[in-house]
Amino acid sequence: METQNLEQSFATYFNAKPSFIVRAPGRVNLIGEHTDYNDGFVLPMAIDRAVWIALAPRTDFQVRIRSLDLNIDSVFDLHSLTKGEGWIEYVKGVAYQLQKTGYQVRGFDAVMTGDVPRGAGLSSSAAVELATAYAFASVSGISWDPVLMAKLSQKAENEWVGMNCGIMDQMASAACKAGHALFLDCRSLEYQHAPLPDEVAIVIMDTSTRRGLVDSAYNERRSQCEEAAHWFGVKALRDVSVDEFERKTRAESTLGEITLKRARHVITENARVLEAVKVMKSGDIKKLGELFNASHDSLRDDFEVTNEALNSMVNCAREQESCHGARMTGAGFGGCALALVDKKDAQEFTQAVAVTYKERSGLDASLYVCQASAGASLVER
Ligand code: GLA
Repeated sequence: METQNLEQSFATYFNAKPSFIVRAPGRVNLIGEHTDYNDGFVLPMAIDRAVWIALAPRTDFQVRIRSLDLNIDSVFDLHSLTKGEGWIEYVKGVAYQLQKTGYQVRGFDAVMTGDVPRGAGLSSSAAVELATAYAFASVSGISWDPVLMAKLSQKAENEWVGMNCGIMDQMASAACKAGHALFLDCRSLEYQHAPLPDEVAIVIMDTSTRRGLVDSAYNERRSQCEEAAHWFGVKALRDVSVDEFERKTRAESTLGEITLKRARHVITENARVLEAVKVMKSGDIKKLGELFNASHDSLRDDFEVTNEALNSMVNCAREQESCHGARMTGAGFGGCALALVDKKDAQEFTQAVAVTYKERSGLDASLYVCQASAGASLVER
């Protein structure tokens, strides 16, 4: 991203220089899908696609933002926030939560742009939320606490926007480190930065199919998981081991078949995340790829959140010799998958998969080799 362009646009709209440029990235989840709202483990990494905001403080409580991508101007007053529609609700939701937490936030003038594809499962909304939080923090002299800001942004999405997401996306956008994935315990919010192996690349494969999160079966999956946790007599499915799952479901047959499948996904997926962190440390790429594959198969067969396009993309990827494993990423029902590929063959891989996917599905895919970037930050100028 050329920050010069952003400065130029700010000058065009506000006839001044911006005081700050902030950015917050999208994320791709390596493994640990639909585990975050079960108090479980996840392993996302921030990607080299982000939302940028150039801004300068105002002396009143107005927020004026120009979206360069949508060509829309939005204005609101921090002291009289009301709900409306569109992307600006993410911004208002964060402003609301910051104030509710007790922060005195200042108004600002801003231009905003981004290159995280929307609705693709790469957390463009978390990127907007965390960039907004960083923008308010910069003009209001609030020190940056990634965990607090992630929690507050998640609340904005849950309570203001009305999407009942877990904490993974906001934590990834807030707390990741370049070159690393984020191994996160979604119960304690303790995390470690896990270095990515040198010899492999993460390739994002956008199926070009979309399904809105709010309309999706996301909430239904959440309640099925809660029902299963209740059946096991625990607070969340995180508290059930694979052994306990097998023992108890063998002994008693009162858990409905669908709920049992949902629980099996979450419980085995948590175990896969822990295993993935271990094998990443020991450099066992082959095993890491197998875990990615098992994760996808479980999301397809037990959690049932893939679509035909995702399954087809994953199959196309797995057929390539340079690919160690592939799986869908994010909430599912459309959007992106990812593949673990030998770095030296990554470009060739993207071309080959795009061709086979087009032949089989008739759809144009976008594939890109992605770099693990840092979480939300101030852009040095
Ligand atoms: C979406 C949600 C996350 C998480 C994933 C599935 O991205 O925002 O909180 O639940 O789906 O792993």
